[in-house]
Amino acid sequence: MISTDVVDRVRHEHGEMRARLGEWESALAQLAAPGFAESQRGLERLWKLVPFFEKEVARHFRQEEAELFPAVEASHLGGVSALARFSGEHAEFNRQWQAYKRELLYCDAVGESRRVIELGGSIIHLLRQHIETEEAELLPLVVGP
Ligand SMILES: [Fe+2]
Ligand SMILES: [Fe+2]
Repeated sequence: MISTDVVDRVRHEHGEMRARLGEWESALAQLAAPGFAESQRGLERLWKLVPFFEKEVARHFRQEEAELFPAVEASHLGGVSALARFSGEHAEFNRQWQAYKRELLYCDAVGESRRVIELGGSIIHLLRQHIETEEAELLPLVVGP
């Protein structure tokens, strides 16, 4: 039996992640806005969000992989193929995040924002879809719908 504490924490952290994804989306829109000052404010907001996605989201993924996924697997609850997909998406986030960070630095130095906006949008989409699918497919295996 998996502790409901683990599931409660995952849900709670997903809520926090959804809120930050909304802020990220709005900061990217500001970066894309016409006008240098407006765009610079967007860039500043993007940098302020970096520690959350770099530290908290990475920690959330590690914790899921260390506690939630093995517990699901050991309980023979099914969903083992889903686990491989979720781990794969964690790795995909890490890859895209590294690329995003490089583009953010490049944007800071050169003022070229196109790739930051593309990559940021792609990661936001990936994370939202990842959270939704975990909640729809994985958590109900543990605690019921
Ligand atoms: Fe996850
Ligand atoms: Fe998660």
